[in-house]
Amino acid sequence: MKDLVDYCNNYGFIFQGSEIYGGLANTWDYGPLGSRLKNTIKDAWRYFFIQKRDNAYEVDADILMNPRVWEASGHVQSFSDPLVDCKECKTRHRADNLIDDFDENAHADGMTQEEMMNYIKEHNVPCPNCGKSNFTDIRQFNLMFATQRGVTNDSANTVYLRPENAQGEYVNFLNVLRTTRTKLPFSIGQIGKAFRNEITPGNFTFRTIEFEQMEFQTFCKHGDDEDIYEYFKNYGIEFFNMLGLPKEKLRHHDHEKLAHYAKAACDIEYLFPFGWGEINGTHNRTDFDLSRHAEFSGKKQEYCDQTTGEKFTPYIIESTYGLDRITLAVLFEAYTIEELENGDTRELLKISPALAPIKLNICPIKKKFHSEKAKEILAMCKKHFMTSYDESGSIGKRYRRADAIGTPWQISVDEKTVEENIVTLRDRDTMEQIELKVEELVPYIEERIQFEK
Ligand code: GAP
Repeated sequence: MKDLVDYCNNYGFIFQGSEIYGGLANTWDYGPLGSRLKNTIKDAWRYFFIQKRDNAYEVDADILMNPRVWEASGHVQSFSDPLVDCKECKTRHRADNLIDDFDENAHADGMTQEEMMNYIKEHNVPCPNCGKSNFTDIRQFNLMFATQRGVTNDSANTVYLRPENAQGEYVNFLNVLRTTRTKLPFSIGQIGKAFRNEITPGNFTFRTIEFEQMEFQTFCKHGDDEDIYEYFKNYGIEFFNMLGLPKEKLRHHDHEKLAHYAKAACDIEYLFPFGWGEINGTHNRTDFDLSRHAEFSGKKQEYCDQTTGEKFTPYIIESTYGLDRITLAVLFEAYTIEELENGDTRELLKISPALAPIKLNICPIKKKFHSEKAKEILAMCKKHFMTSYDESGSIGKRYRRADAIGTPWQISVDEKTVEENIVTLRDRDTMEQIELKVEELVPYIEERIQFEK
């Protein structure tokens, strides 16, 4: 973990949030390469979930919503973590995490609050900070960030930073149905920020208080829900394989204890260096959400089957993806220290070309003679994909710098380029070099940066 945090900071992927002020716990800023990488993962999600699918639509709903939304969704009443304080060292912990860290087979997610307290007492579960076992009773702590709108500071003006994207998609169910004239099953997706007042340590960007989700809600008829739920559990694995996360480091984790709205729930977990961690959740939310919004808004949330005339409230299958966690998993998977035949090592980001922040690096061999031609090629390539230009230092060092940030191809520009319009193209992973005509360069790369063949 430390190596990756240093790597991300050194190359401009991820910085500590508000660093010059000493930071703010569990906040991180994405630098030039990190934000590019996040964008390529968003592009991959848009390709896989919106572009390539039938009846799939994207929305961009506001973060601030009418507070009644969060009453209808159940978040005001029950979106909370069970917290305990250590009476000895005054640190605060999540009771379920204390138990699961103490014994991974205990499965605190299936326990009631009382069962968790009894377990901690019976097993003398220790405080991870001071090692003693002397805790307060469990208190439920709501994770939503509340803020005030308008000029008066009273509870009637309380609004919440959304703790999930989903409600933005649900409240637009009728709008999307009306404007697209689509039929069931259809899906509404959204990429956007969510906020949670998490108190537990974050494991870098794994658990943060502000994060991005890529959510996909499929509205369907009751009876079709179970098949669609199974389908999206597997579709998630395919998506992660496309991003370069291998099957052996992914697993399904079915939930034992279900949220109040769910009929079935399953996470996809990735094997991080600190253990298995959730990067996706698929939930069969039944007709809970639309029924609750109908009740709280007074507006029916129904679908009318044109062939039978039947009116009903659709079920929702949700498949939600944590963008920051996926970015972290992709970085862990790709970050490599490679031993070379001559005994040297090289730092390498072995990332899929489709996700690489920069696709091509252009290196003039001699700045004085070749930079003009190299800049001409740069201008041509920039119209098609992210391209960088490096004319400083030895060619070997320039190659290494670009390998380290995952640039899949580099070209050197020399006399042969000036005279014959031929470049030498080097492959990041094999380090093999081939010659290409300048006009072959863009099609060569464009063909290889597709998400799927
Ligand atoms: N709409 C359902 C929902 O929000 P969730 O399982 O609470 O479900 C979905 O969150 C995804 O968001 C998770 O699978 C995870 O990848 C990501 N996520 C949740 N909390 C997070 C946090 N504090 N920091 C970073 N990512 C988080």
